[in-house]
Amino acid sequence: MIFHYHEGMTLKQQLLYYYACRTGSCISGPVLGKTFQTPEAVIREVMSELAQDGFPFRISGQGYFFEDDDTLSEAIVRASGVPDAVPVYLFDEIDSTNLYARKLAEEKTPAGTLVIADHQSAGRGRRGHSFYSPARSGLYFSAVIYPETDDRTLISRITPAAAVAAAEAIAEVTGIEPGIKWVNDLYLDGRKIAGILCEAVRPGAVIIGIGINCRHVPFPDEIKNIAGSLGIDTLSRSVLAGVLWKKLMRRTGDLADPDLMEEYRRRSAVLGKEITFTINDRVYTGIAEAINDAGNLIVKKPDGDISVLQSGEISVRFTEKI
Ligand code: BTN
Repeated sequence: MIFHYHEGMTLKQQLLYYYACRTGSCISGPVLGKTFQTPEAVIREVMSELAQDGFPFRISGQGYFFEDDDTLSEAIVRASGVPDAVPVYLFDEIDSTNLYARKLAEEKTPAGTLVIADHQSAGRGRRGHSFYSPARSGLYFSAVIYPETDDRTLISRITPAAAVAAAEAIAEVTGIEPGIKWVNDLYLDGRKIAGILCEAVRPGAVIIGIGINCRHVPFPDEIKNIAGSLGIDTLSRSVLAGVLWKKLMRRTGDLADPDLMEEYRRRSAVLGKEITFTINDRVYTGIAEAINDAGNLIVKKPDGDISVLQSGEISVRFTEKI
């Protein structure tokens, strides 16, 4: 796996994300110095800053050790970006983080409230499907937001905003750049690695549920040809959760930002590809030509006719691997 860091990332961020993909490893000062082309004294200083921020870094004779065994940790989630004022609920096991977040939203929990679980016994997917959520394997994440708009175009961007935020968080922590399959699945090497389920609780209150398959796991027969994972068995899901929360709040907090749909299109795995879609039991094919600012997929059929597909109403398959 190639790790690359984004321009503008500080050494501190780079070191954190380097370790977030290597939970449990001890890396020596000289190796870090060489990897980051930085004097060891500077590495030592930055590592002690990370420890002061609340990340469980320890210095041993052999080097620097990130004491995260990937048990979900509120301290690491907070050190990665979730402020103290935002409630965080962590579960070893739950039926569905979205259902729990829904109950909290009904009780008017503060904006941003985060629910994460190690394992979901009844993970929910779109269109009544389930979402496979085994223990110690994926990140099952739900956040409550209260969008301050009733503009339908802006509201329709919540799901694309969640997809962009999830892709950005994965890229920042792991260096992997997944593609977005319209409307809100993340794909890597032709396999679905993450799904998103946004549910309105009432006007003005929305639950954003995101499931990311992190580790290599055997998938059940029904999904084994479609599902994949980031494939990092030493990933810190707590760091990923904190970074994802930050990205999600930033993207859903500014739905009018022209960069949002631009970024969605940049990360799209489908633009220019041939797709198959079904309307009222009739199957059509066409080329995915564009995604408009409301998140609709514009498809050109072989006879030149244009279809404007709205999410939630139509099932789309891609005729080639994405
Ligand atoms: C899909 O791919 O159909 C959407 C899957 C969404 C799964 C996430 S996991 C966290 C949250 N809780 C749930 O029950 N579902 C979402």
